[in-house]
Order: sequence, then C-alpha cells, then structure tokens
Amino acid sequence: MVAHVSTVAFQGVDVVDVDVQVQMGAGLPAFTIVGLPDKAVGESKERVRAALNALGLALPPKRITVNLAPADLAKEGSHFDLPIALGLLSAMDVLPDDTLARYTALGELSLDGALAPVAGVLPAAIDASARDRGLICPAAQGGEAAWAGELDILAAPDVLALVNHFKGTQMLSQPVARARHERAPAAPDLRDIKGQETAKRALEIAAAGGHNLLMSGPPGAGKSMLAARLPGILPPLSAAEALEVSMIHSLSNTLPEGGLMTARPFRDPHHSASLAALVGGGTRARPGEVSLAHRGVLFLDELPEFSRQALESLRQPIESGRAVVSRANHHVAYPARFQLVAAMNPCRCGHLDDPALACSRAPRCATDYQARLSGPLLDRIDLHVDVPAVSAADLALPVPAEGSAEVAARVSAVRELQRRRYAGPVEGQAILTNAEADGEMLDSVAAPDADGKALLTEAAEKLKLSARGWHRVLRVARTIADLDAGDADAPVRRVHVAEALSYRRVAPGH
Ligand SMILES: Nc1ncnc2c1ncn2[C@@H]1O[C@H](COP(=O)(O)OP(=O)(O)O)[C@@H](O)[C@H]1O
Ligand SMILES: [Mg+2]
Repeated sequence: MVAHVSTVAFQGVDVVDVDVQVQMGAGLPAFTIVGLPDKAVGESKERVRAALNALGLALPPKRITVNLAPADLAKEGSHFDLPIALGLLSAMDVLPDDTLARYTALGELSLDGALAPVAGVLPAAIDASARDRGLICPAAQGGEAAWAGELDILAAPDVLALVNHFKGTQMLSQPVARARHERAPAAPDLRDIKGQETAKRALEIAAAGGHNLLMSGPPGAGKSMLAARLPGILPPLSAAEALEVSMIHSLSNTLPEGGLMTARPFRDPHHSASLAALVGGGTRARPGEVSLAHRGVLFLDELPEFSRQALESLRQPIESGRAVVSRANHHVAYPARFQLVAAMNPCRCGHLDDPALACSRAPRCATDYQARLSGPLLDRIDLHVDVPAVSAADLALPVPAEGSAEVAARVSAVRELQRRRYAGPVEGQAILTNAEADGEMLDSVAAPDADGKALLTEAAEKLKLSARGWHRVLRVARTIADLDAGDADAPVRRVHVAEALSYRRVAPGH
C-alpha cells in the first residue's frame, strides 16, 4: 500500500502541487527519497527519523521508498520534512490516510519533533484555499496562513500535537489572522535636513510618481540621510499590494512573524552584495533584493562601489518589472517592480568640486569613478540631482516648517490620483504610478501642450535624448504636473517639462 500526502513546490511565486508517496515493502531495510530532491530534501531523512524517534516510534525494518511526484520537477528546501513524516506515520498506520488527504502540509522538523518555520506558507495557504483543502503548517506561521482567507489550518508546534489532533485526543485550535502590523517605528523626519531644497523636491517627485532617483554629491551632504527619509513619505501598501508583497517575502522567509507587510518595502543592500543576492537565484531559487523591494524602494548607497555585473543585472528588472532567475534547466520569474534610489560621491575621494579638499588626481579620478556606471543604467534613472555640501549658513537655519507629514500628504494625494487614472479595463496589467505608464498609455495621459512639446523637442535634440529618455522625461513631467494641479486631467505644461528636463543627466561632452 502507498500512503499519499500533498505538499507544494515553488516556481517563482507560482505554487506547484507535489504528491509525497510513501511505500514500505519487503526487502533489505533501506530508506530512500527519489524525485529530484536537492541536498536539504535528501537530508530530511535524518530529521524525519529523529523526529519519529522522539515520538517513541522507530522506522520499521523494511524497504522504505519516498517518491516526490512529479518526478521531473526539482524539489528544493526543508519544508518536505513534515509531509514525508506524515506519509510515514500514515504508512505505519499511526495516522488514518483519509483524514490527511484533505490537507496540504509543509514544515521543517527539528530532531526533537518540533516544527520550524519554512518559506512559502502564505502562497501555499492561498493555493490550498483555492483548491478547497486545509493546510498543516508550523505553529509559528498559523497567523501568516490565516491571511489566505477561509480555510482549515492546523498550525502545530510539533508532530505529537498533530498525531493527538488526528486521534481526537487534543484538538488544535484554528489560528487567527493577527491585526495588520503597526507602522514601523516612526521613520526619521525630513525636518532634520537643513537646506538641500532641490534634493528634497526631487525626493518628493520620486516618491509621488515612483521614479528612479540618483543623488550625487560630496560625503556628509546628507544623501544617505535623505534616502532614509523616503519610507516616511511613501503611502502604506494597499490591501492588494500588501498581499502581493507578502507572498514574495513569505518565499524568502522575511515576513514579520504572523503579519502581513503593510509598510512599503525599503531595501538597502550593502555594495558587496552578490548578483544572486541582488536579483535572486544562486544554489536555491530565492527572490533577490529587487523582488523584496517589489512595490517599494531599492536603495543602493555608494552606487559605483557595486560590482559592474551586479549593476548591469539591474537593467532588465528595471525595464520589465520582473527578475528572471535561471535554474539548471528552466527559468523562474519573480515580480520586481521597484523604485531605484541611489547615492554616490562624484569621485572616490568625494571632493571633486572643492579645490581645497580634492585629491591630486582630480578631475581624472572622477571620470574613472563615474565610468563604472554604464550609460544604459544611467539612462534608466529619471531624476539626477546634485546634493552639494551644506553651507554653514544653511546649517544655522531654523528647523524647516515643513516635515515628512506634509510631504507625505501630497505624495499620497498624487498616488491616489494616479491609481484612479490608470484603474482601467486592462486586466492583469495593473499600472499604479506614472513611472509604469508606457507606450500609447503614456502618450495619451502625458502629452504636453504645444509650448511644452516645443521645449521637449528642442531639448531632445540638444541633449541627444534617447527614445527611452524622451519617455522618461514625459513621465516625470506628468508627476510634476500632478503635484502642481492635484487634478488628473490637468495638462502637462511647459514649466513641468522644463523642471523634468532639469533632472536629466547631461551626458559628458554636452
Ligand atoms: N543637510 C543636512 N542637514 C543637517 N544635517 C546634515 C545634513 N547633511 C548632513 N548632515 C549631517 O551629516 C551626517 C552625514 O550625512 P549623510 O547623509 O550620511 O551624508 P552622505 O550620505 O551624503 O555622505 C548626518 O548624519 C547629519 O548629522
Ligand atoms: Mg552616505
């Protein structure tokens, strides 16, 4: 007889059903797992054996075969421990086969039989709910699973609790979705920043329209400080976005315990981050920083210090909103619609424009340093701002009247206006911000008036704007007009185009 337990494998954010089949037959005692297990799955034998021992059960001296079907799909991760253990218990007649049939199970076992958290509980729960099944998962993740909606969840602290539940001796209670997480502890306020009005304005435009931003200036001018204040002016995730973002964080096991992500993600990987850490993949398929920043911000401080390969790998996700990770014999894709915010010094010593402080190699060192960033990458950044050193006079200024709360209110109003503008009939292609508008859509919503068009045409020739550059200027101009008018139908005028153009990078030699 073969015992069956359902579990899942993940392909990007998609869930694939996996059938765990356990057979105990005559023959020399052996315990094998087949069906393309990776190392973590292979090692699950030892954890399962120990966990059963902890229950006072020994594996029978038979030939035990565990098959993970479909056999041609690679199985990764430690969440197969629990379904394998349940399959064995069922094959040993400790658990009735028919009750298990209504559940999808996932969880990692410790040697003492306790269930440890695993990646992917939320997508697994959503899939189980869609198929009218229940879910068995580690106790710590019951709250996470409960977000999937109406489904029967058994969140067990250990295998013993599950056995008791199925025997009817001690029932597990249904976990509840916990109240949405409180907002993160108050983000630092824009009020702390003296001067830097241009940079603050650019930060507001970037936040309002979801545009990419690059700040360049000497050390200590406040670039990192400005970026750290971005989460404080971004609106929280909508309910639909929260679920979408939480799915990705569930897959990398970075979800706050039991909660859904509600604050917009803000990811700031160090410049030593590897390519795999940045865009995903590596020995195990995991979402990278670009996907963890989905619907939020990816902040790259000291941009030129990132490896060239890592920087170039960002181009494709920026353009398509998806990070494609290649595996041994196929590709998986994770959503990666993030806003890139970056900061850099103009040269290695950082004091290019200050003859008193600049090193002896200026301006050569600056050319070398900036050359680490490729043209195509820079072309994808809509807003380039210089953040000059703060003067003593600026530092002595009183605290600015306007802080994050006021800016956040304007950003939130403009985001709402964009949501209404793009909430159209286009199914499955949800545009939420001006930064995502493209092609015909962009032409119809961001067409400037005659004066604006004349200015843009003239500038395009002078600045040698690429077609991409042209569209990026239009998107920024649309956001500036939105901030200006607060009305979705207000036209993009010459002043808006002019301001958008002022944030374009002027290519060297122009
Ligand atoms: N515009 C500013 N207003 C007030 N303090 C500032 C400003 N710019 C820099 N500082 C001070 O200098 C420190 C370093 O700023 P930081 O943002 O790390 O600079 P950068 O990233 O440009 O090198 C901050 O922690 C803050 O104390
Ligand atoms: Mg800094």
